[in-house]
Amino acid sequence: MIYLDHNATTPVHPDVVEALLPFLQGKFGNPSSIHWAGRAVKGAVEEAREQVAALVGCEPGEVVFTASGTEADNMAIKGVAAALRGRGNHIITTRVEHPAVTSACGYLELQGFEVTWLEVDRDGLLDPERLEAAITDRTILISAMAANNETGILFPIREIGEIAARRRVYLHCDGVQAAGKIPLSVRDDGISFLALSGHKLNAPKGVGALVVRRGVKCHPLIHGGSQERNRRGGTENVAGIVAFGKACAIARETMTREMGRLKGLRDQLEEGIIARISGARVNGHRERRLPTTTNITIPGVGADTLLMALDLEGIAASSGAACSSGTLKLSPVLDAMGRTPEEAKGSVRFSLGRGNTDEEIDRVLAVLPAIVARLRGES
Ligand SMILES: Cc1ncc(COP(=O)(O)O)c(C=O)c1O
Repeated sequence: MIYLDHNATTPVHPDVVEALLPFLQGKFGNPSSIHWAGRAVKGAVEEAREQVAALVGCEPGEVVFTASGTEADNMAIKGVAAALRGRGNHIITTRVEHPAVTSACGYLELQGFEVTWLEVDRDGLLDPERLEAAITDRTILISAMAANNETGILFPIREIGEIAARRRVYLHCDGVQAAGKIPLSVRDDGISFLALSGHKLNAPKGVGALVVRRGVKCHPLIHGGSQERNRRGGTENVAGIVAFGKACAIARETMTREMGRLKGLRDQLEEGIIARISGARVNGHRERRLPTTTNITIPGVGADTLLMALDLEGIAASSGAACSSGTLKLSPVLDAMGRTPEEAKGSVRFSLGRGNTDEEIDRVLAVLPAIVARLRGES
């Protein structure tokens, strides 16, 4: 079985499993309890907070654990809207954000907020000057992703952070796909909020985090007890948090080496496909993107049929965001990049991760051209 859908989710790293198991077995305490059972887990939660903070360049006290990246995005966007509604009602975001951001912004539009949806160019790139021009004295938040889930395209977060700081507007960055793959620094990049998700970097599903810079105003999304310094009520998912922390530590230690290796494999796959399949084209800028992702249009085939044929060969890939596959809606990301519905329908995403090998890429390159030829009626 060959798994090339790591932007949907990743396998849990064996060392992460080992780190979390004690918290499903003997160490069952509630971190808010002051007795021995609580103390035994409280320290582990705080260590995980340090590990997450070290990966993304913030203070441990700025990390708020959540149940997902989606929750983190919602918390930042709705939390700022609630906290600053007296100051302004304008939010700037882009047309290619994940639904966790677009749906939260769409919801706020229904509540009377005004949202500017910035365009991207054919390469999927965002123009920071256009972003700056959209800021008004009513703007309270810019929400821009670090790396796109469908294409891997990177936005110039540091440049956007400088604009946000100069114009005194908060910047929320969806770092779910970028964290652990490219260097990110909340401090140096001028980010006010950063959303993260455990299952995208070899931790289990059901845990994420929102980094909230010290002094930044944001209301909680989930009201309850005083957990997470009153920012997020609810007893913590201790095992998930410990796992997330360990996964961040592994990502930090291995990022440079592993991403260099995966970029080599991704390029080999991409060049192989372009050389072997007529008309195949990469969607998005070839340099400014994650080292692990390629999104390719293969004219004359439907991505759904192609993905089914690959699945029969034991190869898992995807046609875009995992949460929208199985629906008939075309990718809003490729639409925003000016692709026709026909082009979008024939687009496949391969996203690589830590387990992938040279042999796997060779095997994909051995079977894919024949599948495409069959689907095109050429063989
Ligand atoms: C860019 C981006 N943001 C947010 C999310 C949502 O994360 P989660 O699955 O943890 O809710 C995803 C998941 O695909 C994503 O790719």
